[in-house]
Amino acid sequence: MKFDRPATTNPIDRLKVVGQPIHRIDGQLKTTGRAMYAYEWHDPNMPYAYGYPVGSAIAKGRIKSMDVSAVKMAAGVLAVVTTLDVGDRKKGKFNTAKLFGGDKIQHYHQAIAVVVAETFEQARAAAALIKVAYAEEKGAFDLKEAQASAKKPDESVQPDSAAGDFESAFKSAPVTFEETYTTPDQSHAMMEPHASIAAWNGDEVTVWTSSQMIDWWRSDLATTLDVDKEKIHLMSPFIGGGFGGKLFLRSDAVLAAFAAKAAKRPVKVALPRPFMMNNTTHRPATIQRIRIGAGHDGKITAIAHESWSGDLEGGQLETAVNQTRLLYAGGNRMTAMRLATLDLPEGNAMRAPGEAPGLMALEIAIDEMAEKVGMDPVEFRIVNDTQVDPEKPERPFSHRDLVGCLKLGAERFGWSNRPKAGSRREGNWLVGMGVAAAFRNNLVLPSGARVKLDRQGVVTVETDMTDIGTGSYTIIAQTAAEMMGVGIDKVAVQLGDSRFPVSAGSGGQFGANSSTSGVYAACVKLREAAAKKLGFNSKDVVFENGDVRSGNRSVPLAEAAGQEGLVGEDTITWGDLTETHQQSTFGAHFIEVGVDVATGETRLRRMLAVCAAGRILNPITARSQVIGAMTMGAGGALSEELAVDTRRGFFVNHDLAGYEVAVHADIPRQDVIFMDETDPMSSPMKAKGVGELGLCGVSAAIANAIYNATGVRVRHYPITLDKLI
Ligand code: MOS
Repeated sequence: MKFDRPATTNPIDRLKVVGQPIHRIDGQLKTTGRAMYAYEWHDPNMPYAYGYPVGSAIAKGRIKSMDVSAVKMAAGVLAVVTTLDVGDRKKGKFNTAKLFGGDKIQHYHQAIAVVVAETFEQARAAAALIKVAYAEEKGAFDLKEAQASAKKPDESVQPDSAAGDFESAFKSAPVTFEETYTTPDQSHAMMEPHASIAAWNGDEVTVWTSSQMIDWWRSDLATTLDVDKEKIHLMSPFIGGGFGGKLFLRSDAVLAAFAAKAAKRPVKVALPRPFMMNNTTHRPATIQRIRIGAGHDGKITAIAHESWSGDLEGGQLETAVNQTRLLYAGGNRMTAMRLATLDLPEGNAMRAPGEAPGLMALEIAIDEMAEKVGMDPVEFRIVNDTQVDPEKPERPFSHRDLVGCLKLGAERFGWSNRPKAGSRREGNWLVGMGVAAAFRNNLVLPSGARVKLDRQGVVTVETDMTDIGTGSYTIIAQTAAEMMGVGIDKVAVQLGDSRFPVSAGSGGQFGANSSTSGVYAACVKLREAAAKKLGFNSKDVVFENGDVRSGNRSVPLAEAAGQEGLVGEDTITWGDLTETHQQSTFGAHFIEVGVDVATGETRLRRMLAVCAAGRILNPITARSQVIGAMTMGAGGALSEELAVDTRRGFFVNHDLAGYEVAVHADIPRQDVIFMDETDPMSSPMKAKGVGELGLCGVSAAIANAIYNATGVRVRHYPITLDKLI
């Protein structure tokens, strides 16, 4: 089904199941420990062996030689596979650095060997016996130092944008502002590490893994192993968090496959926690310069946002200026992004790539500019709202209610009680409030599904869509139940298996809207088939309460299944509505903090997010997404930073003790409000993404609250107490 015109009324609009606060259908499996995560997959008939990875001890250079003789003599060892053994290999389409193979080292902790033994402990002990001789080269590890040498990337990634004449409008503006902000390298730091089990059967391999994107992984694993894609079977039914770190094939799957082949046994490989920060990807650090010009009426007349980030040779930008092209009005504008070559581990997408770090800078700048023009920061944002793409005014937003979010949030949060900066004190606490806008584009990807009906009237959905903790199982079940007119207890959902139709996968907050639209399309096919089989004219037929009905005639849906069952399969594809209309999601974050007057430590007191993101498919799972995102934003504001060793080129704090993420206990009160809206331009579901929107702007709102509490403006994240005193 091609979605190429605005959605009209359809069965989803009944909202008997979709839009209802239904608890996760996979919740019990998870809370009782029966959901099988990749490493836990266990078949008692399988003679599992354990693989332990070895990472490069240098950041850049070449391996001269490797001595594995002591490893082979160690207790329990079944096989050793080194990067020299497998030779130079093609890398996957989505990988910047090679995951494994050849003598070239591109970053610290790049995988250079895997040791297989009877037990995990034996493999780990033996791995320590490997001897490696390196030819080390000097690398570049410091973004600030590399900034001057940063280059303009290929036009295909739109490194520059412009409208009107920024420079002259900025020069002549009555009020002007310019500042530079920095955001650090950040790690996904998900709970479940990357883990895979590989089992060969002849020339075919089955891999149980932890992947956000089954089909991308399958293609890239085929390339890396140099086997036919059809020979690879991937399974990823449960995932303990991804945040973008599991969008792309990683070394655990590659090492497990090579190890299993060498050991002639199924092999389990989990990346040890210290590998997570340096062997996998991270969100790249940025340097961002923002200039704004406005009139005394507070209207922005000129806005510029430039961003510098770094990555390995052949790598990509952190697109931190994205939101500045679309968030506020102003006739004269420019953005630019430059990329430096750094020899740190590979940079790539982390939750809300682009907007998350971009808004960390922009939304402080907006707060600063509001103060300069003498306006309340909520009012300043409202005055500069736009209903059209500011670079192309003929192009409207499909739906945009940033103003509604700001107004409702201000009212509910008690914004009118915001103190003057540095003026409110409660005991040892300086107390302040901050606000920021949230913005994240609404992406869509093609997504397929197969829906089966059996004789008991049970509807089974099969798609390679993943549930990374987001609630995919549940919203997909809700969609199928609504479409087929059955209760959610009559729906079974099977996800994360490469034998199922290719879905959008989980990423870029496109998963919920895209994958349920694919299920919608498949259900349309199944409805047509059922109606035909039961002899109904499919135009006026109604699917409700387990029956198929038209006029006076009503037949149980189960009867359409017949002996062999009935199947509907389709893929949703997208027309040009995302071109003709700018599709984005909006929100407002309100924060109250206390800052200890003596120590400078910040404590969050209250957080409120108001989100406008189309139809909310399930308010429980959507709320959990936003709560989790807000928590991530708290970490981004206050603690998260991969500390770079700029001499040796690696991230020093490579575990969850040194890389501090925020947790529930850090935040006494979090509230989420969803605006009641639908967006018929977005999909037949009229929904949009919300999981990344919840993160966007949070850290800046905290920074702004800290400023309001203390009168100290911090422009360099994380806002640790040393920056306040
Ligand atoms: Mo998200 S960073 O696209 O998983």
